[in-house]
Amino acid sequence: MLAKVISCSVVGLEGTAVEVEVDIYANSLPSITLVGLPDAAVKESTERVRAALFNSALYYPRGRVTVNLAPADLRKVGPVYDLPIAVGLLAASEQTPLDRLEQALFIGELSLDGSLRHIDGVLPMAHMAQQQGIKTVYLPEVDAPEAALIRGIEVIPVPSISALVSHLRDFDPIPVFEHRESLDEVEDAPYSVDFADIKGQEHIKRALEVAAAGGHNCLMTGSPGAGKTLMARSLPSILPRLTLEEALDITRIYSVTGQLPPGTPLVNQRPFRAPHHTISNAGLVGGGRLPRPGEISLAHRGVLFLDELPEFGPHNLETLRQPLEDKVVTISRAQGSLSFPANFMLVGAMNPCPCGWYGDTQHECSCSPAVVSRYQKRLSGPLLDRIDIHVEAPRVDFDKLSDARRGESSREIRSRVELARERQRRRFASYAEGHSELLTNADMGPGEIREFCAVDEAGHSLLRAAMRQLHMSARAYHRTLKLARTIADLIGAERIETAHLAEAIQYRPRWQV
Ligand SMILES: Nc1ncnc2c1ncn2[C@@H]1O[C@H](COP(=O)(O)OP(=O)(O)OP(=O)(O)O)[C@@H](O)[C@H]1O
Ligand SMILES: [Mg+2]
Repeated sequence: MLAKVISCSVVGLEGTAVEVEVDIYANSLPSITLVGLPDAAVKESTERVRAALFNSALYYPRGRVTVNLAPADLRKVGPVYDLPIAVGLLAASEQTPLDRLEQALFIGELSLDGSLRHIDGVLPMAHMAQQQGIKTVYLPEVDAPEAALIRGIEVIPVPSISALVSHLRDFDPIPVFEHRESLDEVEDAPYSVDFADIKGQEHIKRALEVAAAGGHNCLMTGSPGAGKTLMARSLPSILPRLTLEEALDITRIYSVTGQLPPGTPLVNQRPFRAPHHTISNAGLVGGGRLPRPGEISLAHRGVLFLDELPEFGPHNLETLRQPLEDKVVTISRAQGSLSFPANFMLVGAMNPCPCGWYGDTQHECSCSPAVVSRYQKRLSGPLLDRIDIHVEAPRVDFDKLSDARRGESSREIRSRVELARERQRRRFASYAEGHSELLTNADMGPGEIREFCAVDEAGHSLLRAAMRQLHMSARAYHRTLKLARTIADLIGAERIETAHLAEAIQYRPRWQV
């Protein structure tokens, strides 16, 4: 008897259908062969399936069993094929009806007692089912809410293999998992740090507000304990709330990497990723033999926070340059190349020198000028050039720290940021007959800058003087215009005025590389 079961594999961030064929030849010695480029975890499937069927009082067919995973040239990884192989065995040995396998997708890992376990990548797999017109998706109970984010498919949450057999035989049908009611809006989760709790540092808070409003990259420099890490961590609380489309985009990446928190089928906060500086290059930008997204993709549509930026090492920092420019990262392998989205806001924090106190008003720095300069040169010019906002964080004095009054809350700041983003969205939507993919001011190229960042005569003379006296480069000039556009958007000004330019010029880097 031959049974065919549809299952799914995830390549990059996309699901691809895999057909599991199970053939049983009864008049032979018992054996099982698995073919079709399976990796070690898939080979172990046969052992798990055998034990699971046995412990569920189901019958493991006698004779020679051949399992083929097609297409043969696609590498199969992980334990998702446990369930389809088990179902194939049951159907081929006539324990369940064959016709129930049509138009259905089976995914899930089996435990030895026959219950089903969580698998990674459910969202792209359910999406594949919807795209291919597959009506029903059978999957582990815990993964049902994630699959139910996709409309137009029937999700059957399977607790165990024996429950599935009763369902397929119509003895005891498993009810379809109900879709989540309102998916129009993403619920916002609470944030751990609020801007209201940060004392003083008005200059930095303002810089972070501008960064959030225009999607600008930002670097904070300052002595130890100034609150740089604290402020960076509070940034997600003022970023615009996620739209459903963005949330699904992010969820796909987290689903494939197995990083969705249990009980959270849909990511409901902008990502904030803060990898340690000892991270490997593959961990940061993505990679591996079967390429997986790295931190920069996990930070997609959110923040990548690199604390102690110069410690990240030249190789890691240089590989960030291309994704910072293109907003995607492409990983090439002999089998072909894969792209992962990586549209993130880079936020860096650093001390100005190895001892940390260079430029501090109260504490003396013990580094020689050569050491300071070598430390700062760890950040290359091209990288610094891609950072629009550079700010210095002085230490807060006692009076400010002990002041019990609360500052402006994150909620108020966020509403301004959201209005500014909305203005940008509308402006770019009407540009290039709606074909523009720009979302924020930070994404503007020279063409858009010419179109949207016109300055008047007074602005011109300010910029001319700044360029001459501060030795600003052409890139710095464009950066200033983009920042000024965001600052104008924050107060709803149609035109860029001199005051906006003056503030934008303030955010230039203080040391030239
Ligand atoms: N402006 C501030 N308002 C309230 N608390 C602050 C402020 N600045 C610092 N703190 C307190 O000091 C602690 C240390 O701050 P943080 O870790 O952010 O410093 P840092 O600038 O990152 O220092 P380092 O350079 O050593 O990494 C914070 O956890 C917080 O409790
Ligand atoms: Mg810190």
